[in-house]
Amino acid sequence: ELTAQVESLLERMTLEEKIGQMTQFTSNRDTTGPSVGSDIEQDIRAGRVGSVFNAFDADFTRELQQLAVDNSRLGIPLLFGYDIIHGFRTIFPIPLGQAASWNLDGIERAAHIAATEGAAAGVHWSFTPMLDISRDPRWGRVMEGPGEDPWLASQIATAQVRGLQGHDPEATDTLAACAKHFAGYGAVEAGREYNTVDMSQWRLRSVYLPPFKAALDAGCATVMTAFNSLNGLPATADPLLFERILRDEWQFQGFVVTDYTAIMELERHGVADGARQAAKKAVNAGVDMDMQDGYYLDELGGLVESGEVAEARIDQAVRRILLVKAALGLLEDPYRYSDRERERTSILTDAHRQAARELARESMVLLKNDEQVLPLSKDISTLAVIGPLGNTQEVIGSWHADGDAEQAISLMTGLRNRLGDGVELLQAEGASNEIGSTDTSGIDEAVRLAEQADAVILALGERQEYADEAASRADIRLPGMQLELARRVIEAVGDKPVATVLFNGRPLELTDLEAIAPAMLEAWWPGSEAGNAVADVLFGDYNPSGKLTMTFPRSVGQVPLYYNHFNTGRPKGVDPKYASQYLDIPNTPLYPFGFGLSYTEFEYSRLDLDRPSISGEQALSIRVTLTNSGERRGTEVAQLYLRDLTASVVRPVRELKDFQRVTLEPGESRTLTFWITRDQLAFLDAELAMRVQPGRFEVQIGSSSEAGQTAEFVLEE
Ligand code: IFM
Repeated sequence: ELTAQVESLLERMTLEEKIGQMTQFTSNRDTTGPSVGSDIEQDIRAGRVGSVFNAFDADFTRELQQLAVDNSRLGIPLLFGYDIIHGFRTIFPIPLGQAASWNLDGIERAAHIAATEGAAAGVHWSFTPMLDISRDPRWGRVMEGPGEDPWLASQIATAQVRGLQGHDPEATDTLAACAKHFAGYGAVEAGREYNTVDMSQWRLRSVYLPPFKAALDAGCATVMTAFNSLNGLPATADPLLFERILRDEWQFQGFVVTDYTAIMELERHGVADGARQAAKKAVNAGVDMDMQDGYYLDELGGLVESGEVAEARIDQAVRRILLVKAALGLLEDPYRYSDRERERTSILTDAHRQAARELARESMVLLKNDEQVLPLSKDISTLAVIGPLGNTQEVIGSWHADGDAEQAISLMTGLRNRLGDGVELLQAEGASNEIGSTDTSGIDEAVRLAEQADAVILALGERQEYADEAASRADIRLPGMQLELARRVIEAVGDKPVATVLFNGRPLELTDLEAIAPAMLEAWWPGSEAGNAVADVLFGDYNPSGKLTMTFPRSVGQVPLYYNHFNTGRPKGVDPKYASQYLDIPNTPLYPFGFGLSYTEFEYSRLDLDRPSISGEQALSIRVTLTNSGERRGTEVAQLYLRDLTASVVRPVRELKDFQRVTLEPGESRTLTFWITRDQLAFLDAELAMRVQPGRFEVQIGSSSEAGQTAEFVLEE
């Protein structure tokens, strides 16, 4: 029925109207790049715009929609898109933090709440999930993604698409999703934003594409192109990505939108001499909608007339776009999302804030806790909060949509909420976290306050805008004089408990801090409920359970550093000199993928395989006993890794294949059962074919990628 509706519209459309559907402009409300001017109202009336982004709020979207519905010849409704990345107004932790929760239900719930709020404000389409695998913390957009592991990222992609799109086509609390950025963007050379990407198809398909495939398998409606060039072609003009992989191989039915002005940028990449060539390359590569540069609008008409672009290709793109509009119910009721009453009642509700608080505390990773500094005792009379992140509401992270820092809970407020008036809070910034700051003038006062307190919280980190688009850093240590501040405070207070809380959007190089700080909690950018969630963890109301999904290096010189690397022919330890190693530092990270401590202790024992070998479609069952041997209730993420010991191509030293998030009471033991199936042993061979090859495999189950019990099994012919 939807198809019939779309076909009947298509038949009545002029070429110009069709090209209009393939055009998207910003509402001018908020832009994320150099803008290209459009008189948007005029264009909407004339049917020259199919989609508007950065437009939200029930009244505003209704107004714009009216321009299209009442004034354009065919009254085709606009599609409103927006970057609802980790919440609309209720802001959840940044996606890298959400990933560290390993709580797929929680991630799905966050996406659903974001959709509910966005949809109530008239948005139809969210430019999420961002699925760029990245192994380079210098790149500022790692904050927006799932981390470095393709399998976990695929699980997260599925959860996000489910949360955003839901299952009920009648629902008005869901959004169309957009898997971005296709493809390879997370591998920009040297972590420098928008830089070149060059990698084998083998690596692309093994590591970078699986999360996209998972998102599309979950029904993701759209895909966004990437800014980077990939193996010599800008991704926005690469038929391999769109025609071959998305359409031929994956049978994707939705539409592809460019990233912001990416067609125009084909000229700067040097593959198009002028707008006409750029538009032709993008459309013929399979890109359906042009975000912001107006090149399709200006050029596609002429290109169709000259026969350089087939009208059938235009019809194909328009059909895909209209089908998404139809599936959202917009052809039936263009205003169904712009609902003032829903907007009034369903945004930033207490329940949404509570969900944000829960996910925020689950996202936090306890990196170090010598002598059980944490949790802090509530039995104190004075607490000093030192550092540039202690008393700020700028804790929601970048890409925060309509999130308002003024509605966020600062650490100071969270502590006050938790401790009441009985504990005196002393606070000083001490040092700035601005890149390049050399100002130490606040340190003496900070030290003086710390000395007066029974316990100290050091609130350190980046600025939100340092982990964002166009925010690469070559030096990923704490900016400014924060390390010096920490050193002076820690030295001054002697045996008093000092807990460092880190707010940042990427793995930082924490080696120097780790050498002096007794306790470190990675809080990321926790969102609207930041301060409350941090207080929950610091005082033990929530026992931390987060695990890193990106490796923290010892030194930026190790980057790219990731857990699922290959062995090399001369791995460290075989020969003292001729080894793949550094002369000056170990190869290992400071904190590996999957790492995170708890206030309790977990022990793994009795790893047991139900058989030594499997063949055909047989599954192998593996049991392991997990014991909470500490004194607090806690949640552990038990991780299962596999290593294919010999194959026709090199295989990673380990790959995550499964996990279980398990909560145990003190002293409780549980037998966990995992299953290994044949498809988990599959990999791409040198001819890019998926293969399962017989041979020996090693399984490892434990608390991180670098810990656990191991055993071997054989896959027989
Ligand atoms: O969706 C984003 C994209 O991730 C980066 N460039 C701008 C787009 C729209 O805001």
